[in-house]
Amino acid sequence: MNQNEAPDKLSENLSGKAPDGLTGEAAESLLDEARCEINGIDREMAELFCRRMAAVRKVAQYKAAHGLPITDRAREEEVIRRNAALIGDEAIRPDYIAFLRETMEVSKEYQRRLLAAKETSAGGTPGRWETVMRLREESYPITVERGALARAGEYFAPDRKALIVTDSGVPEEYAKRVAAGCREAHLVSIPEGEASKSPETLFLLIDAMMQNNFTRGDCAIAVGGGVVGDLTGFAASCYMRGIDFYNIPTTLLSQVDSSIGGKTAIDYGGIKNIVGAFYQPKGVLIDPDVLKTLPERQIAAGLAEAIKMAVCFDRELFERIEASNAEQILDEIIIGSLRIKQAVVEKDAKEAGLRRALNFGHTIGHGIEAERGGELLHGECVALGMLPMCGGEVRRRLLRIYEKVGLPCRFDGDVSRAIAAAAHDKKAEDGGIRVITVERVGEFEMKRETLAGLESRARAVWGN
Ligand code: GLY
Repeated sequence: MNQNEAPDKLSENLSGKAPDGLTGEAAESLLDEARCEINGIDREMAELFCRRMAAVRKVAQYKAAHGLPITDRAREEEVIRRNAALIGDEAIRPDYIAFLRETMEVSKEYQRRLLAAKETSAGGTPGRWETVMRLREESYPITVERGALARAGEYFAPDRKALIVTDSGVPEEYAKRVAAGCREAHLVSIPEGEASKSPETLFLLIDAMMQNNFTRGDCAIAVGGGVVGDLTGFAASCYMRGIDFYNIPTTLLSQVDSSIGGKTAIDYGGIKNIVGAFYQPKGVLIDPDVLKTLPERQIAAGLAEAIKMAVCFDRELFERIEASNAEQILDEIIIGSLRIKQAVVEKDAKEAGLRRALNFGHTIGHGIEAERGGELLHGECVALGMLPMCGGEVRRRLLRIYEKVGLPCRFDGDVSRAIAAAAHDKKAEDGGIRVITVERVGEFEMKRETLAGLESRARAVWGN
């Protein structure tokens, strides 16, 4: 029996139609024979399946080590074309293509499970949590490890120039520790605060790279909070049309949120983040030890962004934060938040849909930030901005957490002015502002809201 005859015979038999000239016992005996043959093939396939999955495991290890995405559609299509051509019988070639596609999905699911196990198992490096943001050719590793700061330079720039950007609020020794591992480090410290997200500071960084003859093979490393990360990432995206950028966030807010996902920007014309780019880092290294020197108010402000993610996406994490002393479970909160953000960004890196949920609390939050002229921290404004956008029960639970961690519960400023400032926010569009609301913990809705609607929500909560 040649390869192409077997399936024909099987299909005839399995459809209940005996081949010409065969009836009764002869047909049944052919059926038995075919079933035996299938059993044998299944046994061989079980062996082949184990061998295939062992090879898939090696591919998963390689991809994780090199920050490569699990899905590579171009390669999948090429493999399918190549293998489909091996099937001589056109009638069954589409079935084989479907089978190959299924097999690939099974393999990818296995790779995802292996990666997830690696993230959580004690089999990885103890005390280190690692994952890969899977964004095809823009994929990158994210590592959380206490004490990692000391090996950062060596990790990112052992053999090239590195512009290390930090700010006056970050202990000097952090950037110096990173610089110590670099072959040639150029340190720039900018003034702490949002005012540094300016064209002037951007060009200060560009000048520093030009004066030190940085080429496209060199890199920029941010050692600081959200301002340093946004600015350095944007400078890296512009310099010579893009050099490698690494982020070492040193505030809780940047560790849980802004350091991953590739949002980089400066402010201009009084508008936050109006000039910017999606520019993914090549790696993110998070050392929770650096939080020891962070003032309690900054920790609380960082928690606001973690609470934002939990309240929208993860009821369990929210309940953990509710039930615990947050400072004692900071690693868990950081990793929990990174997992949420990673899943969101992998689905929607450019904020075309799902990622908008990460702006929960930011519309009124930005209005409050503008109205209070920098008096409140960004995270504090986001915390306040979430309150009018929640159902009553969620708001009560949020307020209990705010009291416990030291976040503001009331906005005492001018609501109308804050809402007017929110209208300048870049998310304002004709027909209203896109907002996120949360009626139940772990679930969110995207809506459009008029300015009047936003104002009445805020007044209903604060009255002023
Ligand atoms: N911080 C919100 C975002 O990265 O989309």
